[in-house]
Amino acid sequence: MASYLFLGVAVSFTFIVTDVFANDTLLIPEDLLLGAATASYQIEGAWNEDGKGENIWDRWTHSNPNLINNGSNGDVACDSYHKYKEDVQLLNELGVNFYRFSISWSRIIPSGYTNVINEKGLNYYKNLINELLAKGIEPFVTLYHWSHPQFLEEMGGWTNEMMVEWISDYARIIFKELGPKVKYFATINEPHVFCGEGYGMGLKAPGKKLGSPGIFECMHNVLKAHATIYHIYNEEFREHQKGKIGIIIPCTGALPKNPNETEAVDMHFQFNCAWIAHPIFSKTGDYPTIMKIHVAENSKLDGFPRSLLPEFTPEWVQYIKGTSDFFGLNHYSSKLVEIVPRAEGQKWYAYSGVKESVDPSWPKSASPWLRVVPSGFREIIKKIAREYNNPPIYVTENGFSDKCCTSDYSRISYLHSYIKAMLLAIYEDGCNVKAYTVWSLLDNFEWESGYSVRFGLVYVNFTDSNRTRTPKWSMNWYKNIIATRILNSTLDSPTGMLEAPKKRGTSERRRERRIRTTTST
Ligand SMILES: *[C@@H]1O[C@H](CO)[C@@H](O)[C@H](O)[C@H]1NC(C)=O
Ligand SMILES: *[C@@H]1O[C@H](CO)[C@@H](O)[C@H](O)[C@H]1NC(C)=O
Ligand SMILES: *[C@@H]1O[C@H](CO)[C@@H](O)[C@H](O)[C@H]1NC(C)=O
Ligand SMILES: *[C@@H]1O[C@H](CO)[C@@H](O)[C@H](O)[C@H]1NC(C)=O
Ligand SMILES: *[C@@H]1O[C@H](CO)[C@@H](O)[C@H](O)[C@H]1NC(C)=O
Repeated sequence: MASYLFLGVAVSFTFIVTDVFANDTLLIPEDLLLGAATASYQIEGAWNEDGKGENIWDRWTHSNPNLINNGSNGDVACDSYHKYKEDVQLLNELGVNFYRFSISWSRIIPSGYTNVINEKGLNYYKNLINELLAKGIEPFVTLYHWSHPQFLEEMGGWTNEMMVEWISDYARIIFKELGPKVKYFATINEPHVFCGEGYGMGLKAPGKKLGSPGIFECMHNVLKAHATIYHIYNEEFREHQKGKIGIIIPCTGALPKNPNETEAVDMHFQFNCAWIAHPIFSKTGDYPTIMKIHVAENSKLDGFPRSLLPEFTPEWVQYIKGTSDFFGLNHYSSKLVEIVPRAEGQKWYAYSGVKESVDPSWPKSASPWLRVVPSGFREIIKKIAREYNNPPIYVTENGFSDKCCTSDYSRISYLHSYIKAMLLAIYEDGCNVKAYTVWSLLDNFEWESGYSVRFGLVYVNFTDSNRTRTPKWSMNWYKNIIATRILNSTLDSPTGMLEAPKKRGTSERRRERRIRTTTST
């Protein structure tokens, strides 16, 4: 770990040179991979083409346009099903090491049962992977990013334990057909979000309002499904394919509302991140003890005959433990947390006894849940490292939403401050971060927010039938970071307002190259 002196000046920070901090710049470690991400339903379109089956998002958006901003859906989205070569070209210009995308399950297994496999769907992903590899970009494949065949939902979806078998059959086909060319797999993306909002609160597909029982059941089946897929890869494919496979967990940061609330910070972590992380990454496995105790006590107080938190048999505890080659971390924002009486708890954390709030001074994005809190990013990385013996962390999503244009100053500012927080977690706290991914390559269908908020490095014109793509300033900024692997400690501007990357002077670029040359040895 590097030691250095830190001089806070009114508007800028100065790092005294050591091996990792060259003057006012931070080096991005050579073994940290940089990428960008998307998900199938949010970008592909072609919802009923070439034999694709209906999935839960098709059904949900078509049946409930009133619940989606502007009545939008993903029928066309960015039309990436037809325009994937253009997308890969953008990735190539960006210079990313990898591209994280997801497979549409019902494009390959239309009904959910593997007696019928849709070759045309498989070919789409084979072509995409070949296109990426031809440009030297590693495909990072997510098996499940929230869209399963509608037929399986009719059978109960994630509340039916049979889902473990159904998704395993699908995963085996993906490993067999696509695995030979894929080195990075994610099993399941953000269980908390689709279990919470899809099965608990009815805000996302499949739109079920099953409350806490539905959420707990969904999370329980997700853990079994993830572990089963991992073992299939391990036992049947790893030897030949030599890839890595892991789960992706959405971990919200937590900062104490009052300086004395350290217990609240830990409790928030145990009920949020650790719900999925503890069974997989801890030494003992199973749900966090504090969670088992709290949910049992509160279930009793609410008159349930047993805890709403399902129990794993000792066999399942062992089977789930250790089933991830990396910690896939999706992180966007943080909350202030405090311990409150039972009745004041919020949503599915109700049983945690922790209340979330925000500091009104935190800068806003276009999404109500996303405030800019880079210090929370560093804290959550440290917490994961401490709790689980410093696992390799892949940041699989991080990004900022706006309603704007291609001159996206606030996105650059967000990415700059978050990447800096991550680098400090690496250099100062010794955390083992090995990949970083911007969400998202493209503006896309943002679930119930429709097309009203934009997360892309690339602007997509959704009123143009051609879905024209235009790089934003953030794309040029990120491209420069990837090319130089240097982050300036501050964004260069006396007013705090950024200059457009395009307008940057050549002398400045020469200076950056010089710094790189002098520090890369
Ligand atoms: C840092 O800046 C000083 C003064 O400008 C310069 O002499 C030195 O070479 C720089 N160090 C690196 C590693 O760029
Ligand atoms: C922390 O301090 C605040 C304000 O002083 C107080 O209201 C709260 O009860 C304290 N919380 C804990 C967990 O001690
Ligand atoms: C909302 O829908 C209307 C009509 O289809 C369209 O003109 C408009 O661009 C849409 N707005 C957004 C934000 O998607
Ligand atoms: C989007 O495309 C429409 C139709 O081609 C065009 O009229 C409009 O100016 C475009 N919007 C932007 C921001 O480029
Ligand atoms: C649609 O986009 C493609 C790729 O950017 C471009 O080559 C083509 O000219 C566009 N067509 C129209 C009608 O704008």
